[in-house]
Amino acid sequence: MNLEVDKQRLISEIEELSLISDAEAPAVTRIVFTPTDLRARAWFLERCKEAGLAVRQDAIGNIFARWNGQNSDAPAVATGSHIDAIPNAGKYDGVVGVLGGLEAIRALQQSGFNPKRSIELILFTSEEPTRFGIGCLGSRLLSGSLSADAAKKLKDKEGATIEQVRRSAGFQGKLETVKLPAGHYQAFLELHIEQGPLLEQKQIPLGIVNQIAAPSSFQLFIEGAGGHAGGVLMPDRRDALCAASELILAIEQQAKTSGSTDTVATVGICEVFPGAVNSIPSRVHLSVDIRDTDLQRRDSLIATVDASCHAIAAKRGVTIRQELVNADAPADCAPDIVETLSESCRKHGLPFTNMVSRAYHDSLFMSRIAPTAMLFIPCHNGYSHRPDEYASPEDIVRGTLVLAETLRSLAS
Ligand code: GLV
Ligand code: MN
Ligand code: MN
Repeated sequence: MNLEVDKQRLISEIEELSLISDAEAPAVTRIVFTPTDLRARAWFLERCKEAGLAVRQDAIGNIFARWNGQNSDAPAVATGSHIDAIPNAGKYDGVVGVLGGLEAIRALQQSGFNPKRSIELILFTSEEPTRFGIGCLGSRLLSGSLSADAAKKLKDKEGATIEQVRRSAGFQGKLETVKLPAGHYQAFLELHIEQGPLLEQKQIPLGIVNQIAAPSSFQLFIEGAGGHAGGVLMPDRRDALCAASELILAIEQQAKTSGSTDTVATVGICEVFPGAVNSIPSRVHLSVDIRDTDLQRRDSLIATVDASCHAIAAKRGVTIRQELVNADAPADCAPDIVETLSESCRKHGLPFTNMVSRAYHDSLFMSRIAPTAMLFIPCHNGYSHRPDEYASPEDIVRGTLVLAETLRSLAS
């Protein structure tokens, strides 16, 4: 049975979805549970219904679109990703896995394939941490990696809780019902753009992921003393932004000297209060993101940053409060799913390489309840989380074809 991916349909759907955005094209901004996100979800649900899939939505808004197999009671084979996008993002991050997953199912349907196991396409809620500060909200809850109680404590910038926001977006039911047991899925696969430059540099069209690096993030709240920019002399200052600056550079230096280029650290948010040209900053909020493939090295960098907080606070007469958001373990992909993906590549004569995912993904959490693996396609210059993110139609089609082939093997 010949598998054919409809390139024209898939690419035009990616383009169409990119226009449901709060940023001007080509940039995409789609923050979870905003009216724009809800419009995008409604658009996606229509596409699933057109494909004859049975749709369920859980209390956090994860969407499950199911193609029932002959043995519909057996654990399903699942694939999926996310469609939320950080501010000023591109159109492929997450979307390729969701719409590629849908196209893979349609290609299988059109080939005449009659699956034994059901195939489920999952759209995960809030893979991006933009609104609630923590990434992979849907897959964390689904896999039991975040408890419903812990989730209920999360708030957005306006102080609205997850409970308020999800309910007013139309997602009712108890958060406790989101968790699925281990064994619920036979396997989970995620197609994604690489978000790094390696595949393009090596001119290899496909990457099969065998490990996902360990992410962590925390918030730092620095409090000094404000005052008049003219009146307070330099020896008398306790400038919170100067303390934050020193800390940011210390974090960069410590990541650079960890002994491995696998260590990365980013301070992506710096909010200064009161934020006036003639006022000494009294408070600063920083968000820090630290990742590594090696859990011990990641944790030892977190400990070093903690020591710097104490040293800089003492030296500058400020206080620094830390709030951990997440410190997750890395994940190993399931060797047998990695092998099935490899066989699919071989079957279609497509070269591939094995690689590490340095970005985190819903797969990191799905791997805790199901044998999981990821398939990467190249993205131009490794650009991601920016409007000029680009994956070629040919690469997207190749990834979708291998995904379809692998779903076929796993659901047979
Ligand atoms: C996912 O978006 C990540 O930050 O790795
Ligand atoms: Mn992303
Ligand atoms: Mn993503």
